[in-house]
Amino acid sequence: MSGLLAAVAISAGGAARAQGALKPGAGQATVQRLCATCHTLDNVTRRPHTADEWDAILGRMIDKGLIATDGQLDDVAAYLTKNYGPGAPRAVAAAPAGAPAKKTR
Ligand code: HEC
Repeated sequence: MSGLLAAVAISAGGAARAQGALKPGAGQATVQRLCATCHTLDNVTRRPHTADEWDAILGRMIDKGLIATDGQLDDVAAYLTKNYGPGAPRAVAAAPAGAPAKKTR
C-alpha cells in the first residue's frame, strides 16, 4: 500500500512541476487546461514546432480524444507557435543563478 501512495505523490508532484513550466502569455491557461489531462506538459513543450506542425499535432490530439472549441484551438495554436515555435527562446526556466556557463567547445 505504501508503494501506491508513493506513486501517487510522485505523479502529483510531476503535474505541479509541468504546470509551472509553461511560459506566461495569452493562451497559456487554455493550454494548461486542455493539454495536461492525458500527458504532462513536458510532452507539449519539449520540442519547438512550426505553425503547420502545431496544426498537425492538434489534429492528432483531436484524434486521440482532445475536446476543444475552434476558438480554444486557435488560442492554443497561436500560443504554442509564439512560445514554442522555431524562433522562440529554448529555455523554459532560467538557469539557476551561479550555474556554470555551458562550454561551447
Ligand atoms: C485525449 C488525450 C490527449 C489530450 C487532451 C492531448 N493529448 Fe497530446 N498526446 C496524447 C497521446 C496519447 C500522445 C502520444 C503518447 C504520449 O506521448 O504520451 C500525445 C502526444 C503528444 C505530443 C508528442 C507526440 C506528437 O504527436 O507530436 C505532443 C507535442 C502533444 N501530445 C501535444 C498536445 C497538445 C498541445 C495538447 C493540447 C491542445 C494535447 N497534446 C492534448 C493524448 C492527448
